[in-house]
Amino acid sequence: LDKSSDGTVTMEAQRNSRSFLHRCARSGDAVHASVVITLLVGVWCAQALEVSVGKVHFVEVMNGSSVLLPCTYSSCIGIKNLYFNWQYNDNGTMVKICEAVIPTELVEPNVKIYHERVEFVGSSKESNISILLWNVTFEDEGEYTCFARNPKEKDRNHSAIFTLIVVDQLREVDNTLTIIIVSVIGGVIGLVIIIMVIKAVVVHILNKAQEKNKECLVSSSGNDNTENGLSGSKAETKASPKA
Ligand SMILES: *[C@@H]1O[C@H](CO)[C@@H](O)[C@H](O)[C@H]1NC(C)=O
Ligand SMILES: *[C@@H]1O[C@H](CO)[C@@H](O)[C@H](O)[C@H]1NC(C)=O
Ligand SMILES: *[C@@H]1O[C@H](CO)[C@@H](O)[C@H](O)[C@H]1NC(C)=O
Ligand SMILES: *[C@@H]1O[C@H](CO)[C@@H](O)[C@H](O)[C@H]1NC(C)=O
Ligand SMILES: *[C@@H]1O[C@H](CO)[C@@H](O)[C@H](O)[C@H]1NC(C)=O
Repeated sequence: LDKSSDGTVTMEAQRNSRSFLHRCARSGDAVHASVVITLLVGVWCAQALEVSVGKVHFVEVMNGSSVLLPCTYSSCIGIKNLYFNWQYNDNGTMVKICEAVIPTELVEPNVKIYHERVEFVGSSKESNISILLWNVTFEDEGEYTCFARNPKEKDRNHSAIFTLIVVDQLREVDNTLTIIIVSVIGGVIGLVIIIMVIKAVVVHILNKAQEKNKECLVSSSGNDNTENGLSGSKAETKASPKA
């Protein structure tokens, strides 16, 4: 059977198989037809049990916070005594975090937990076997495997891996950006204030110097060359009646 990329059986394949079944039935070969049906069901349920941690396979959390490690299962042939566990890959050795058996659909499991900061938050009603990890530390970083096995399908193993990344509160991007912006603004304001103070001082000194200059010019004959055209012309006008 054709399977499209998302794993669903295409319409065409379905139509083909139906017409095939029809031909089988017409030929009166009932045994043949039932074999085909069994085969079809077998193909459709090749992935009898599927375990998934969702579309995103990792999460980044701050140390000290709590994080949901998501996992769900689905089965088209139904479950019976489904065994599941969560394992943490501690530098190569798989450490079991919790485990349980779900007797049948809708019956909540009695979960054995081997980690003091883990809480089971799943529900059989939603085929949800997620756990919650409290007060995350940097040592918690790594790969968490959600494992399940359905005895109905010859104990085939299924699992999915979820990766936990722990970041420091202080290294948060927003924080860094805020600090940078605040220090830049602070620096600019400081610089502006310093420039204004320097300007005021310089203007004050210049004014003082100008006043002194004027006094000098008035008392002198006025042919003194000053750096200021205004005071120079003033000096000239003042000096001219004298001449
Ligand atoms: C996170 O780690 C930093 C140091 O790495 C520490 O100062 C801070 O208290 C921790 N936060 C929490 C909530 O544990
Ligand atoms: C992981 O194991 C390797 C060797 O098996 C060792 O060199 C390394 O230090 C270990 N790392 C940690 C974080 O324990
Ligand atoms: C998480 O930390 C808080 C405060 O440090 C503490 O009160 C709480 O009991 C901790 N929870 C677990 C499950 O360890
Ligand atoms: C599984 O259960 C947890 C806790 O109730 C919830 O936060 C999460 O969204 C559930 N996941 C799915 C895929 O339903
Ligand atoms: C399934 O995993 C268990 C370990 O959890 C292993 O002993 C068993 O051989 C595996 N079965 C198959 C069919 O891979």
